[in-house]
Amino acid sequence: MAVERVLSGMRPTGSLHLGHYNGVLKNWIRLQHEHECLFFVADWHALTTHYDSPEIIEESVWEMVIDWLAAGVDPASATIFIQSQVPEHAELHTLLSMVTPLSWLERVPTYKDQQEKLSSKDLSTYGFLGYPLLQSADILIYKATQVPVGEDQIPHIEFTREIARRFNHLYGREPGFEDKAQEAIKKLGKKKSKLYQEMRNAYQESGDEQALESARAMLEEQQNLSLGDTERLLGYLEGGGKIILVEPEYKLAPASKMPGLDGQKMSKSYNNTISLREPAEEVTKKIKTMPTDPARIRRTDPGNPAKCPVWQLHEVYSGNDVQDWVKTGCKAGSIGCIECKQPVIEGVLKELKPMQARAEEYAADPTLVRNIVAEGNEKARKLARETMRDVRDAMGLDYS
Ligand code: TRP
Ligand code: SF4
Repeated sequence: MAVERVLSGMRPTGSLHLGHYNGVLKNWIRLQHEHECLFFVADWHALTTHYDSPEIIEESVWEMVIDWLAAGVDPASATIFIQSQVPEHAELHTLLSMVTPLSWLERVPTYKDQQEKLSSKDLSTYGFLGYPLLQSADILIYKATQVPVGEDQIPHIEFTREIARRFNHLYGREPGFEDKAQEAIKKLGKKKSKLYQEMRNAYQESGDEQALESARAMLEEQQNLSLGDTERLLGYLEGGGKIILVEPEYKLAPASKMPGLDGQKMSKSYNNTISLREPAEEVTKKIKTMPTDPARIRRTDPGNPAKCPVWQLHEVYSGNDVQDWVKTGCKAGSIGCIECKQPVIEGVLKELKPMQARAEEYAADPTLVRNIVAEGNEKARKLARETMRDVRDAMGLDYS
């Protein structure tokens, strides 16, 4: 099986809520048991939009790491680190900027969208325009193959793929590439080199994607090739040069649109969140005061769950039996809304309770949290350094 490396980052801009938990963290927690995972705090990305309020970032970084740990991100399975503690990201960002056409950045849809949405801020900065390229550096520096993100981030991953392709195209043509590739093919052994040639032809002559996939899989299983030869043969398959930077794929979280207290998507900007460390009384109060189907004025008025944000929470937190009870009771006007909200309150509290207990433990032991991150920074730096060696080499910056 091809080895996957998963990488994702989150900006520290405030406390995490159930939307983050259901939409992102649950997915990370599942992935950490299946693949090598790196998760990082994108503090530089936060500065692109919050450059005028560094205090928010400073406060949020550690709180966010505590929330991750409390939610179940496990430092024994995943590498947890802080972007700015691996300055190689900035170096790669600078080097990539040399080959990034301005027009590619200007047409990333989040650029104009966010400028309009956050119109109270001046986002006509160099840093903000470069946001997607910094993200590309985050991803490419670890040769990540999978990037779990939300839908809004897809253009950034596609942009990253284009940058990797352009970089490989420009710098992957080492002297004598063709000869080196032929040498590497021989190392595959008789049967496999023939197979490789056939699949390469099938792809190059008739665009057979299946053949490309099979050839890639074969190379990735191959034990006796050096990393350099594997990269050469991967590059040679597609006709170009050596693959120095790996094109990542995005991995959409399994559909989980976490509704907020008002039925819109849960988001800090809609002011409809329940935070992971919300005290139980607050949770109860927030759910009890949630709006319901406006047709239900008296308890006996029939309602329609499809018009009620509470129902959306039942879809996340209640089993079939409770859901049936809600549907029947609401439509018949035989249950009250407060009564209906009770199982949601219980469901949310049940989910939060163990998290809050763990958060308290981590919050009480800042040294532990700092050590976890220090160790993650170290591991990340080691990987980043390896890529940077190749990148510098390729760009004529090897002074050893
Ligand atoms: N832009 C991402 C977001 O807002 C955060 C991020 C920064 C990221 N660098 C990344 C996500 C690299 C995935 C990979 O959600
Ligand atoms: Fe909403 Fe439940 Fe009230 Fe129906 S009974 S309107 S689903 S809260």
